[in-house]
Amino acid sequence: MAEKKTILKALAGETQAVPPIWMMRQAGRYLPEYRATRAEAGDFLSLCYNSDLATEVTLQPIRRYGFDAAILFADILLLPQALGADLWFVTGEGPRLSTITEQADFDKLKPASDIHDTLAPVYQTVRNLARDLPDETTLIGFAGAPWTVATYMIAGRGTPDQGPAHALKAENRDLFEQVMERLTEGTIDYLSMQIDAGAEVVKLFDSWAGSLKGDDFDRYATGPAKRIIAALKDRHPDVPVIAFPREAGDGYIGFHEATGADCVAIDDSVTPEWAAEHVQAGGCVQGNLASSHMVTGGDDLVRETRRIVDAFKSGPHIFNLGHGITPDADPDNVHRMIEAVRAG
Ligand code: CP3
Repeated sequence: MAEKKTILKALAGETQAVPPIWMMRQAGRYLPEYRATRAEAGDFLSLCYNSDLATEVTLQPIRRYGFDAAILFADILLLPQALGADLWFVTGEGPRLSTITEQADFDKLKPASDIHDTLAPVYQTVRNLARDLPDETTLIGFAGAPWTVATYMIAGRGTPDQGPAHALKAENRDLFEQVMERLTEGTIDYLSMQIDAGAEVVKLFDSWAGSLKGDDFDRYATGPAKRIIAALKDRHPDVPVIAFPREAGDGYIGFHEATGADCVAIDDSVTPEWAAEHVQAGGCVQGNLASSHMVTGGDDLVRETRRIVDAFKSGPHIFNLGHGITPDADPDNVHRMIEAVRAG
């Protein structure tokens, strides 16, 4: 029987002498080959919905660096688009969507069961990747967590403090919860279809979890993650789930247990020593190198990389950044990071 893949070993709770590695946004604008394929596609969304080109950009960082996992090339905002929201990207600024401010805006959306026609090219990309990836590389599918996606759907754009979503939650909780419910149902179906198409692991990105405080964190970050993971485990009991409640702080403690996640991804606002003590006891952790090191490089990059590997060495760990690599990163620094992890 073939040896189990390194990422799957970590997700099964195995401690490994050299942790497996991948990088958030590993297919992205810091790579010249990504920029070339994106130019060929025309724009970012056309790239996401072109299965051949999305397959190509997913494979680019695997060819260049030999990462242990590939993450499907797509975006968390494709789900709102499949639910009927308008979506477009303004170059240099980011995403724009139709907003949700009143019941009539929500009533225009489609039921969760109607998302699959729009998302069919994404499932095709997953099938292509399951066919084309090297045997040792794990294929990760993903979706945004309901709260994070809701912040974009409600505001119609990215916001520094998620103000419009917090305001809707305070002023019209019923409508806010209808949005969360539709996204929770859609996310379960979307991830389940990615798994059917060949995703071996799925990840839930809650990039704005850190702005949910107190009971809100339990209700709108932990609660939906728990429901989504339970539904996925029901349908696909052997597929591991990575949860990323970014900037959760103390909320990271017990997140594995509270949600059933096999791995919790850690951003760079906490130290690896703290996370090893308080979070890794619950299961595999992923993270948490500051992405800025991929821009600045040098001895600090090597030192911080080694510090993270050492801090997490007594338990299951997948090496990653604390957030996505940025367009100004130097591709050579990625080689230095990988060498530092594997130098062990
Ligand atoms: O990690 C990967 O390589 C897989 C692909 C992936 C993308 N976005 C591609 C992308 C994944 C997993 C995402 C997740 C995503 N998208 C999140 C959650 C993770 C995070 O970064 O917090 C969020 C919040 C989004 C929404 C989104 N997509 C924003 C706010 C933006 C604009 C900001 C930016 O970086 O330009 C995007 C665009 C986007 N998604 C790009 C890529 C490679 C850049 C688009 C381009 O090529 O111009």
